[in-house]
Amino acid sequence: MHNDCIFAIQLYFMQPVTGFSKLSKSQKIDWLVTNHLNDNATARETLTQYWNEDQKLQDLHDGFSENTVTNYYFPFGLAPNFKIDGQLVTIPMAIEESSVVAAASKAAKFWMDRGGFKTVIKGTKKVGQVHLMYHGLSSEMDAFYAFAKAELLQSLEQINASMKKRGGGIVSLDLIDKTKNLKGYYQLHATFETKDAMGANFINTTLEQLATTFRLKASQFDGFSSDVPEVIMSILSNYVPECVVNVSVSCKIDEIGTINGVTGKEFARKFVQAVDIATVEPYRAVTHNKGIMNGIDAVVIATGNDFRAVEAGVHAYAARDGQYRSLTKARVENDTFIFEADFPLALGTVGGLTSLHPLSKLALQILENPSAEHLMKVTAVAGLAQNFAALHSLVTTGIQAGHMKMHLVNMLEQIGATDVEKDLLRKEYADKTPSFSALRESLLVLRS
Ligand code: MEV
Repeated sequence: MHNDCIFAIQLYFMQPVTGFSKLSKSQKIDWLVTNHLNDNATARETLTQYWNEDQKLQDLHDGFSENTVTNYYFPFGLAPNFKIDGQLVTIPMAIEESSVVAAASKAAKFWMDRGGFKTVIKGTKKVGQVHLMYHGLSSEMDAFYAFAKAELLQSLEQINASMKKRGGGIVSLDLIDKTKNLKGYYQLHATFETKDAMGANFINTTLEQLATTFRLKASQFDGFSSDVPEVIMSILSNYVPECVVNVSVSCKIDEIGTINGVTGKEFARKFVQAVDIATVEPYRAVTHNKGIMNGIDAVVIATGNDFRAVEAGVHAYAARDGQYRSLTKARVENDTFIFEADFPLALGTVGGLTSLHPLSKLALQILENPSAEHLMKVTAVAGLAQNFAALHSLVTTGIQAGHMKMHLVNMLEQIGATDVEKDLLRKEYADKTPSFSALRESLLVLRS
């Protein structure tokens, strides 16, 4: 019988596994290889070759997650020479896409002599909500909130104490009537300052305390004509439109020079048009913003921050007026080319993985142990730089020339070229766009 067929039958008869989390790492791999990988001998080797010899370090990584069987490497690279608000910064980036760090470096070099990147923090407020249901009169909810608000806030004092000492804590608390959006739906909408922490734990703990106090006070209030309000859930929001950093670059048109055979004026004109297209056309906007996230995610991951939270928040922000749009803006004003963006970035430089993962810790050291605000600025620069580099190529040579040059390294690896062959093929393809079939043919010619 064909191997695939045996495999399909195995999967069909497979029983659910119980107590999987209690198995040792080796036992988990045994189970995996037997049940999912058709007893493939090399699978075990592939998994175990990524184990770290330093058992303490391995235990640390295993502790980050559950049911771990190995480690998953990401390249950790450096993009030096970023001039940010007059200071030179080397940006650590963890990313697997071959052209991203090169693109960052290219943008850094371009703007180094043209004033560099400028940043401004527009706000650092984060949001959390207690979601409630009440089916009586909304005036009763208002009366209840007036009755309970002081004690709701008072009950947070202990939880807020150490954050308050650092200059943060809960900033505002409001009852919001959302019954027009959903029958019976209200929320306690809270805003927070969390200083250098991303703040997820602090915000969620605070919200859960609010919910507990809310339930207690609701049981003491006799003005409800319907069942007492019900707490559905309490959770922070990853939508952070008030935790925003502005990043910009600008220079006189005649400082742009000629780019890939295109005059500065023509380059600026096409660049602005490209951004305008991404502002009105969602299909383009998604790819445009994806390129921005190549830079943002790389810094977010390198510094041990939560890239899923950042991704969700940034894309929601891109659609804040009801249509998904470009996050960046570009214009020419008084012979000056201006390119900028507002990015909502809830980041932390203390707590969470930032101090636990040795490489995140090191990434933050490379950035000279920044405050959360400074990290927001650096991350925003990485995002704007990526978008600049992508559009720089797109409106001149096209993306493939540069992209494929970087991709060539991976392709040569994949077709099994030796180091000497790689050198020769890199030279042969210096001015050509490589494809797998063309490379394989060239390799055959070389070998014959
Ligand atoms: C590829 O990862 C990112 C780009 O597609 C972004 C863009 O098109 O602007 C090059």
